Amino acid sequence: MSTAKLSLNGQDYEFPTFTGSEGEVGIDIAKLRPESKAITFDPGYGNTGSCKSAITFINGEKGILRHRGYAIEDLANKSTFSEVSYLVIHGELPTPEQLSAFEAGIAEHSTLPAAISDMITRFPKTAHPMSVLSSMTAALPAVYDDYINEDSVDTNVMRMLGHVLAIATEFHKHTEGEAAVPFDSNLDYPGNFLNGMFGSADGGYTVNPIRQSALNKLLIVHADHEQNCSTSTVRMIGSGHASLFTSITGGISALWGPLHGGANQAVIEMLHDIQEDGGDSEKYMEMAKDKESGFRLMGFGHRVYKNFDPRATILKEACDEVLEDLGVSDPTLALAKNLERIALEDEYFVKRNLYPNVDFYSGIIYRAMGIPVDMFTVLFAIGRMPGWIAHWLEMREDGGRIHRPRQIYTGATHREFPR
Ligand code: CMC
Repeated sequence: MSTAKLSLNGQDYEFPTFTGSEGEVGIDIAKLRPESKAITFDPGYGNTGSCKSAITFINGEKGILRHRGYAIEDLANKSTFSEVSYLVIHGELPTPEQLSAFEAGIAEHSTLPAAISDMITRFPKTAHPMSVLSSMTAALPAVYDDYINEDSVDTNVMRMLGHVLAIATEFHKHTEGEAAVPFDSNLDYPGNFLNGMFGSADGGYTVNPIRQSALNKLLIVHADHEQNCSTSTVRMIGSGHASLFTSITGGISALWGPLHGGANQAVIEMLHDIQEDGGDSEKYMEMAKDKESGFRLMGFGHRVYKNFDPRATILKEACDEVLEDLGVSDPTLALAKNLERIALEDEYFVKRNLYPNVDFYSGIIYRAMGIPVDMFTVLFAIGRMPGWIAHWLEMREDGGRIHRPRQIYTGATHREFPR
């Protein structure tokens, strides 16, 4: 085993290294502080591995994303969201019997407890659905007294998958003053989301197959993304042995931020603002380059992908297809393409490897599908659910210590209290 050496104040320290299955090297600095009293300093954790994980592999330089070894391109083009969810959570592709049982489990848990359904109807119709979603997942331990039981973990996983879809669609129906649409076992998961949003409790709505297939792809490309902000939050909360429901509630809240999952809504709002302001793309590109302006080009850039975001490549293609198939001609799309073209040629963006990310195209597709803008991040949350669940389960199985980073204190040193 090779070691890494560090010299500090004339003293040498040696640390073991280890290599992951794709050749990534980690330096285990667990003994650094006990031996030297120094800590590593890595704000934003850009260089810090917080765990070992066998769920998702990303190579940001090469634009590779794989779940349990399977390429995202294959999963997005050849699989279903239920199958990918099973894969991400359980580690292997399901047999047909396992998949049927998994889907039946989701259907079984697609009906919300009465208290949750009732609470959903008490929210103002203007409430942001991300607030409703996190409030309702936070309330699940209040209605399930087995929320923390070891032998209820599998049931709670299925509750999470079934309930998240129902919370989102029931709240949307509430905003429209309509009754919730029951889950239809003849439809797949994306089909049930669309039916729950646009169908009626009396039936009579046919899910459009183009929308259904696009949503299937959209949910798959969001299924997991290793130690991103929301997943790290789920692990952070779970490391204190909080329940699955509570840990995922934290993940939903973290996702809402516009630099993370909230970017899909922010992209459309940005395009709208630019359009309202006369559609001058160049002006906004200049603003994005000017740090004083406080304006960022939403849907561009990524901490890990420094070549291209493979999810964006999949969605860019899907975006063109969906708009053509649905016959949608959207002036926002022309504006988006113009921004994309300028960014791909402009030295500022090229030098910093700022490419369109998953949220750039997903927002445009959701809009073409007629999904309300404030539901975009909810769809990200629904798609990310298997990833959050898988990480919570993996962390629990691996054991380990409570997550507790350190800091370098920079405040006042000891001073006398004035009285
Ligand atoms: N517009 C203009 N400049 C940018 C942008 C942007 N969208 N993103 C990064 N930069 C600049 C940044 O100012 C910095 O410049 P300099 O080196 O001169 O100081 C450089 O690029 C590196 O940026 P950073 O902020 O250090 O990068 P980060 O890894 O900390 O942040 C990010 C990544 C995604 C938060 C950031 O690129 C961003 O704010 N993008 C817009 C929001 C967005 O689309 N988020 C969705 C991410 S994909 C979905 C997900 O997985 O969450």
